[in-house]
Amino acid sequence: MIIAGGPASTYLAEKLSEISGLKLVKVDYKLFPDGESYIRFAEDVSGEEILVVQGMHPPQDRHIFQACLLADTALDLGARSVSLLAPYLAYARQDKRFLEGESVSLNTLLKVLKAVGYKRVYTVNIHSPWAIKSSPVPVEDILAEEALAEHIKSMKLGEPLVVSVGKKGKCMAERVARFLEAEYLAARSSRDKVTGEVSVEVEDSVGDRNIIVVDDIISTGGTMAKLVERLKAMGARRIIATCIHGLMIGDAAEKILRAGAEAIISSDTVPSRYTRYSVAGVIARSILGKT
Ligand code: R5P
Repeated sequence: MIIAGGPASTYLAEKLSEISGLKLVKVDYKLFPDGESYIRFAEDVSGEEILVVQGMHPPQDRHIFQACLLADTALDLGARSVSLLAPYLAYARQDKRFLEGESVSLNTLLKVLKAVGYKRVYTVNIHSPWAIKSSPVPVEDILAEEALAEHIKSMKLGEPLVVSVGKKGKCMAERVARFLEAEYLAARSSRDKVTGEVSVEVEDSVGDRNIIVVDDIISTGGTMAKLVERLKAMGARRIIATCIHGLMIGDAAEKILRAGAEAIISSDTVPSRYTRYSVAGVIARSILGKT
């Protein structure tokens, strides 16, 4: 197998190649003046099994189309197969029809990935794990809580309490807490289907403790900021806001810090100034069989 890094994830592709010893094939990219994407495999890929590494964080639609170009071109040039590692899979929050007439965008995306020739898709902490069971292309979800927990451990926060939000968040909190040998609790959240406004509720007491808030995604920062504010009002000492995918849209970070978080920590699935840990190790272990 060889690795082809797409423009969204060159850093992660290089890191994976380094860890695994797999060759990183040279791919050239540019954007035409009108914004269209150009890609060119600068080396022979015929007969190769290729792992394309291309995240789908903003600008999502461009990154998705670049993933399509990479698969279609590689196969056209004679590659034996192409698989995709999309560390952040876009549209996973639109996994069902919430309102009459809406598109189920995740299904459309998965159909497109199959149609351009991907034989398998790997992703990290997909927002809707239930939705991939019926995917037209096999999707494998790699969990990155261990990588997050290792980073938290290195911060030496004493005995932190892990707090998550939402039903699915509870599983994430459980996993992070297990790696940290810490306690956890799950806050409840609800989102208005039309305005997107989030409200959170924390039922148990958090006392004067150091808190690690975990969420799979920080997008606009609204959910995290609401929870941090609530925990602060309940007497929490230090609060660290963490996630796997830090999309950090607009003033997300400012909102979270203003609400009382001391730091924001996210992984390199979405590269940003808040990236503090890498998912390359867990990916290498699960899909490349390398440590
Ligand atoms: C929701 O189900 C997710 O786990 C995140 O809580 C949500 O996507 C975060 O979005 P935002 O940062 O816009 O509140």
